[in-house]
Amino acid sequence: MDREQAKIRIGELRDIINENNRRYYVENSPVISDYEFDMLMNELISLEKQYPDLVTPDSPTQKVGSDLESPPGESHPAGKPVAVAAGNGRDDRPQKEFAQYRHRYPMLSLGNTYDMSEVESFVERAAKGLGGEKFSFSTELKFDGTAICLTYRHGRLFRALTRGDGTVGDDVTENVHHIGNIPVRLSGSGWPDEFEIRGEIYMPYKAFDRLNAERERDEDPPFANPRNAASGSLKLLDPEEVGHRGLECTLYHIPGDDLPFETHDQALNAAASWGLPVSDKRRICRDIREIEEYIDYWDTERKLLPFATDGIVIKVNELAFQKRLGYTAKFPRWAVAYKFQAEKALTRLRSIDYQVGRTGAVTPVANLDPVPLSGTTVKRASLHNLDQMRQLDIRIGDYVYVEKGGEIIPKITGVELSERGKDVTVPAFPEKCPDCGTPLVRDDGEARFFCPNTDGCPTQIMGKLVHFISRKAMNVMAGDATIEQLYGLGLVKTPADLYSLTREDLLRLEGWKDRSAERFLSSLEASKAVPFGHVLFAIGIRHVGETTAKSLAGHFRNIDALMAAGREELLGVEDIGEVIADSILAYFADPAHVREIERLKAAGLRFSIDEDTPAGGSSALAGMTIVISGNFSIPRDEMKAIIEKHGGKNSGSVSGRTTYLLAGSKPGPEKMKKAEQLGIKVIGEDDIMSMIASQTGSGQQEKPGQRDSDGENKGSRAAGTAAVSGQLTLF
Ligand code: IVH
Repeated sequence: MDREQAKIRIGELRDIINENNRRYYVENSPVISDYEFDMLMNELISLEKQYPDLVTPDSPTQKVGSDLESPPGESHPAGKPVAVAAGNGRDDRPQKEFAQYRHRYPMLSLGNTYDMSEVESFVERAAKGLGGEKFSFSTELKFDGTAICLTYRHGRLFRALTRGDGTVGDDVTENVHHIGNIPVRLSGSGWPDEFEIRGEIYMPYKAFDRLNAERERDEDPPFANPRNAASGSLKLLDPEEVGHRGLECTLYHIPGDDLPFETHDQALNAAASWGLPVSDKRRICRDIREIEEYIDYWDTERKLLPFATDGIVIKVNELAFQKRLGYTAKFPRWAVAYKFQAEKALTRLRSIDYQVGRTGAVTPVANLDPVPLSGTTVKRASLHNLDQMRQLDIRIGDYVYVEKGGEIIPKITGVELSERGKDVTVPAFPEKCPDCGTPLVRDDGEARFFCPNTDGCPTQIMGKLVHFISRKAMNVMAGDATIEQLYGLGLVKTPADLYSLTREDLLRLEGWKDRSAERFLSSLEASKAVPFGHVLFAIGIRHVGETTAKSLAGHFRNIDALMAAGREELLGVEDIGEVIADSILAYFADPAHVREIERLKAAGLRFSIDEDTPAGGSSALAGMTIVISGNFSIPRDEMKAIIEKHGGKNSGSVSGRTTYLLAGSKPGPEKMKKAEQLGIKVIGEDDIMSMIASQTGSGQQEKPGQRDSDGENKGSRAAGTAAVSGQLTLF
């Protein structure tokens, strides 16, 4: 690959990796497996090695993934907590803003490998770095959960922080108080007056199964795996609920330069004597042979553990040697993780169901002889599409390999041909929709078959309704079963029908009482305040996902402008390619869709960005993505809040999607350089204030948040275009 090609691929890989990091750490719903992720990262690492001048500080190879919901603000480094936003209590949305604190020592990740020879290289490198001195290794299980950093002060749990972005973490102390095996007070004696100890919060399989069963019953989406369940639960709104989730903790690292111990092992033994949860599965190894033995043993034995592990961590045991080996920007040089290959199970394929999704895509799903895999029993697995079935040459009755990826449904990755019996049969992919009987179609370049009866196929109708009410769309408090009931009784066929439902209609549903009906109706009422971008996502135009919907809303500002847009204009919008543009055109060309939108409008849903404007704000910056850098006359957080209030979006890094780099004094040189490279316009505080002033029609523009004599930031606290001290302020 030449330099130009490498540059393009590096850009692609960074985008893919960043997006998957976000899904993993923030959303807790990864869509690719750890293995697939690690392979992407390896590809990026090797390209950056080949072209070191293309390495940038914001490359995911240089940072640890971040679990922070909001980017760390510089106004609360180790200081005061920020406000906690209220949630609706229904789902697992984390608190919008946990207080954030800076870690005393950065919380790094570990270099990892799937390859035994790289463990050997690690051992050799460590030996070389230590100049032939005698040393040992601590080998440990790699717990598959979410990292936590506990601080004990005067023998009491003082603070618990998530990893966050490695530098700043979210304060989850209150939640951690409800995790059974984390002591609030230490026992024994000899603990330092203040120390940090780090480890993993995880959810044992039993608690995970119980939680998912409950979620299914409550019509909440189940968690894909115990890791996601643990990290989602740790950031719940309600600490009491955290206590019910059955989380556990194991601690494996005491950071610090002057610890009163010689080895890591001694430090953990001391921690155990103070009542802290430390794994008893650790072992001290002297050489690679013993390390291999430990790995081999646990590769099999871990399947019997009551919790998920995804590998083995090998650490240099002597603390002085750890110090000597030091750290790279991302990893310690004194430790490495060996990761196990995803577990596979062999089982028999009984039959194949062909499921129709909300967009009409038909997916083959395998029914299997139940088989245990990574702590759960697998009965169904995805077969993706017809091409995949052909490639696997799969037959009903075959023995097949199932693996768990990042998704909730495991996939079939192979067929054991040596086990093929005589009675196997070739599966027949249906020619007609299994639900409504319409002949299936396959669009050019599509691997999947579709039922084209978009508005008449019951599964698609219900799928669209379920999508419409989902959390990221209209956020109506109901689930699949309610939609099925409403559809089954003929009460609802399209989303607009939902808004004509009456209390009497709802009381016809089995098990519904006054309270459930009222809750549902008030949730529908509340959905009328959902911003235009979400409404656009909710109506379910094929290929228009959450991000595309937001960018369309920002560009066109209202549904009429979007409906009037031609192909060229659509193609001019960021992120919109031909497939999406054609899909939008096809959607609005259907009179039934236009009628539906009119009905939704009449019901009071928001179809214009101007209606979204928060009190006191404007849409002056709507559709703009702004990166701020440097210092302003007001704290950076307030500047960000102003941007949002006037319809803009804040972003942490300069990319092709950035509209402006808003530079204060001493802007970051990297951001400035990147903006210059990409031709992004750099504006100052005055420019943005004028932009806002011109929209809000305010003639008298005041500097935001001018400080009064006692340093209070009056302007920034005043809501809307309000008069403060006789002057007109914008903020
Ligand atoms: S040591 C400075 N030990 O795996 C390194 N980490 O993929 C401190 N993990 O970031 C980490 N089990 O969240 C260590 N026995 C163990 C572990 C462990 C799980 C996690 C941890 C780490 C991640 C790296």
